[in-house]
Amino acid sequence: QSADARIEIFAEDAIATIAPEIYGHFTEHIGGVIYDGVWVGEGSKIPNQYGIRKALVDRMNQIHVPILRWPGGCFADSYDWKDGVGRRGKRPVRTSFWEVDPEAARLNEKGAQIFEPNTFGTNEFMRFCMLTNAQPYLAANLRSLPALNFDQWVEYCNSPPGSTTLAQTRAEGGFPKPFGVKYWGVGNESWGCGGNFEPRQYASEFRRYTNWIPKYGVDLQLIAAGPNSDDSTWTQGFFEEIFTGNHPYRNSEFTGWSVHHYASDLSRGRVKNNFHEAHGKALDFDITDWYELMRETARVEDIMSDQWAIMSEFDPLHQVKLVVDEYGPWYHEGSEVDPTHLFGQQVTVRDALATAMTLDIFNRHADKVSVATCAQLVNNLNALFLCHEEHFMVTPNFYVFEMYAAHQGGQSLRAEFSAPRVHYTRDGKPASFWGLNGSASRKSNVVTVTLVNTDLASPTQAQISIHGLNVKSAKGWILAANDMHAHNTFENQNAVLSKDLKVDVSSGRMLNVNILPASVTKLEVTLG
Ligand code: AHR
Repeated sequence: QSADARIEIFAEDAIATIAPEIYGHFTEHIGGVIYDGVWVGEGSKIPNQYGIRKALVDRMNQIHVPILRWPGGCFADSYDWKDGVGRRGKRPVRTSFWEVDPEAARLNEKGAQIFEPNTFGTNEFMRFCMLTNAQPYLAANLRSLPALNFDQWVEYCNSPPGSTTLAQTRAEGGFPKPFGVKYWGVGNESWGCGGNFEPRQYASEFRRYTNWIPKYGVDLQLIAAGPNSDDSTWTQGFFEEIFTGNHPYRNSEFTGWSVHHYASDLSRGRVKNNFHEAHGKALDFDITDWYELMRETARVEDIMSDQWAIMSEFDPLHQVKLVVDEYGPWYHEGSEVDPTHLFGQQVTVRDALATAMTLDIFNRHADKVSVATCAQLVNNLNALFLCHEEHFMVTPNFYVFEMYAAHQGGQSLRAEFSAPRVHYTRDGKPASFWGLNGSASRKSNVVTVTLVNTDLASPTQAQISIHGLNVKSAKGWILAANDMHAHNTFENQNAVLSKDLKVDVSSGRMLNVNILPASVTKLEVTLG
């Protein structure tokens, strides 16, 4: 059988273990994420567990969510965790960070959530993690609170029963056992909403906030705020100050460097110096926009490699790994399921391909990335779920995470892809992008292969060889749509979903698969 694409997988050439934590999610107090998304309240007619939306918990449990980041984002840079503990009815109402955002302020006329009632705080978030078997990843405020407040949040979460006054407060809230929080982000976007620092200034703040925090025997993982996109000056300045400055930092708990990368289609000569105007639209886009989004999404691979190269100069043994804790497409407003959900954009099959492509990149760089959280879980940006009041649905992204869950904890395998490029035009000039790419991993005698076909027009006949081992059997799943704008709605919840795919095992080591245009595919190959 002739093939358009050939994929060679080297089953005994492992790159590194794929950290399950790269399949994490992000939940911020913004728009409809927490209130309306996660939290409906204990007295709600919407089915809930401890006030948390049950449909969300059930669906999350289908995809094995390893880690959840909270409470921000920029929200975290103005948040005092103490406001969110103690009796629910007695907690203070505060002005949210998002009150200062021009988009949010404009939406406020429609009733957007920009005042924070603190109904959902640390205990409620921990409950959410327990219900979904996810590890908590807390983002601490380094912009507007002193370091002692951070120490005390760690104390509240991790000090043993009966040891401290804060352990007592935690017990009074129903949680005598410590939460044992390992992952702590110390600052968020500290070059921007997190304080507008200079990199060396931020490095010295990071050192001050983290060098002497209480441990309680927890294997703390401290994550520093990385650059704006691929800003190498930020990374160079920070690492130089931390690792070679007058007071070198010797804290083995500093293990993560946060990277944020949002993609949008930038063609059509949009206003590039206006953040919101520059973005394309979630539902209204053309063929050029499709490929431009793919191209912008794939940039995360270069960003990761560039950042890694700088980090290698100062940390050659790589104590510090990449934590891509915000990623996904970001569009202009207008497609929200509820108009008050700031950044609550719709999610099409195009976004599912972008998400899958990003996860494949993480798999291929399993040696570099230790944690990643998609922005955001529900009702915001690249969501897996959209909901409003009693309405709830999964987006095409949910199926991507469902298909890719099998990679968690596998050995990332070296895989070579050879496929024709796809050609299109940008601003009247020829442009091109790769047609088929993906990743492979192995857990004992099962190899998981995931593939993204970005080609809008043509199916690809792919021939996959597994070098070194025999194939016993193979199963496949595919997510595809005839219309590049396809997306689910409350009325039509199954417009985009994954389906079974026929895989032909032709000889002991060869598979043939017909891959539809604009699709995400998963193969589960059992070795003989
Ligand atoms: O995810 C939305 C916002 O994007 C986050 O609050 C911030 O960290 C980033 O700029």
